[in-house]
Amino acid sequence: MSAKHALHICVTCRRPDWVAGRPRDGLTLFEMVQAAYYDWPRRHEIALKPIECLSGCDRSCTVAVSAEGKPGYLFGDKVPMRETAAAALELAAQYIDSADGTLPRGERPALFRGGILARIPSP
Ligand code: FES
Repeated sequence: MSAKHALHICVTCRRPDWVAGRPRDGLTLFEMVQAAYYDWPRRHEIALKPIECLSGCDRSCTVAVSAEGKPGYLFGDKVPMRETAAAALELAAQYIDSADGTLPRGERPALFRGGILARIPSP
């Protein structure tokens, strides 16, 4: 596996309607992405990484992509559903394919056009 790219999903996120005692919304989203990732033909090109907090707690659920030599992106307000999981992998593919890491808003999957919280320049 190329470790150059990573797709991070916060597993501790709780959306405003989260009910105590239920799995964290972020964990639910991570498990949905993970289930799709296992059968995804490009899984060897990007690592899927669960993480406890991406510092976007007020905008749960959060998802990020990062890579050496590319800007990192942090997205919030994601709903744990299969469509979001599929869109996260579509976003990951765009990120892999983007030579400089740019992810123009209008070209991102619809569920990732909004909710961007940060674009962090490459060192
Ligand atoms: S708990 Fe998910 S960003 Fe903080």
